[in-house]
Amino acid sequence: MRTVMTTAAAANEPVLGGATQPILEVDHVSQRFGNFKALTDVSVSFEAGKLTAIIGPNGAGKSTFFNIVSGAFAPTEGRIRFQGRDITGLAPHEYARIGIAKSFQITNVFKQLSAHENVRVAAQMRTTRFALLRPRSTLTALIERADILLARVGLTASRDKVAGELAHGQQRALEVAMALAAEPSLLLMDEPTAGMSPEETGVMMELITSLAAERTVILVEHKMKLVMNLCQRLIVLHHGELLAEGTPDDIRNNDEVRRVYLGKN
Ligand SMILES: Nc1ncnc2c1ncn2[C@@H]1O[C@H](COP(=O)(O)OP(=O)(O)OP(=O)(O)O)[C@@H](O)[C@H]1O
Ligand SMILES: [Mg+2]
Repeated sequence: MRTVMTTAAAANEPVLGGATQPILEVDHVSQRFGNFKALTDVSVSFEAGKLTAIIGPNGAGKSTFFNIVSGAFAPTEGRIRFQGRDITGLAPHEYARIGIAKSFQITNVFKQLSAHENVRVAAQMRTTRFALLRPRSTLTALIERADILLARVGLTASRDKVAGELAHGQQRALEVAMALAAEPSLLLMDEPTAGMSPEETGVMMELITSLAAERTVILVEHKMKLVMNLCQRLIVLHHGELLAEGTPDDIRNNDEVRRVYLGKN
């Protein structure tokens, strides 16, 4: 069993040695909705192991960008590459298999199931991981795996609570545990602190920081102040265009960013 798990986990590791190869490349991507252009010729790449935030005012195109890189739909124009492989138009369910997981802006848990059951269902989707095991060992492995994931996001005490009765911040943490069930090498998060109290926000920010120590994380956020001190890199969208990218200091000192964005949040 150990061999199976180790091999499968290794398949999701970022390509080591190829330090210069980005984990994700967005190449001249545009997105139209009818006559409206939500993204215009955006090219940007992401280095493995970094925590990057996509920021921008309301309507900047952040969620559209998120949807495209997480495989919800293919862009009208342009290509997406993951670990050097062109994944433009890949079926959404293939994303988890290749090592990309997402947690959504809208809470996405099964409200009538317990926290533990929710994570177990998510872990079960990784059928290949357990396919070679006998049913009983499979169930035991799933139960253990769900417990490890719940612990990872700080929900052990809420293991048997019905998800719908968890606090909003805990439901978002549960969603993260479900995303982690796929052992992604790239984790995408759209406004992970949306609707949270300041206290819940702090807890989520700590969780994101610790997750980012283990894998590549890209998060979408419109509250710039929140991510300024958290991320190694920021990408600023504005009216569907790439306005700026760089370190938090680069972004803080960028005149255009200050003009369109700073002071508003
Ligand atoms: N399916 C769609 N059909 C038509 N227009 C859309 C669609 N999705 C997004 N848009 C438009 O594209 C623009 C960018 O939207 P998007 O949701 O990507 O912005 P955002 O940066 O995520 O904003 P917010 O901070 O409010 O979440 C907006 O003007 C929006 O109205
Ligand atoms: Mg959005």
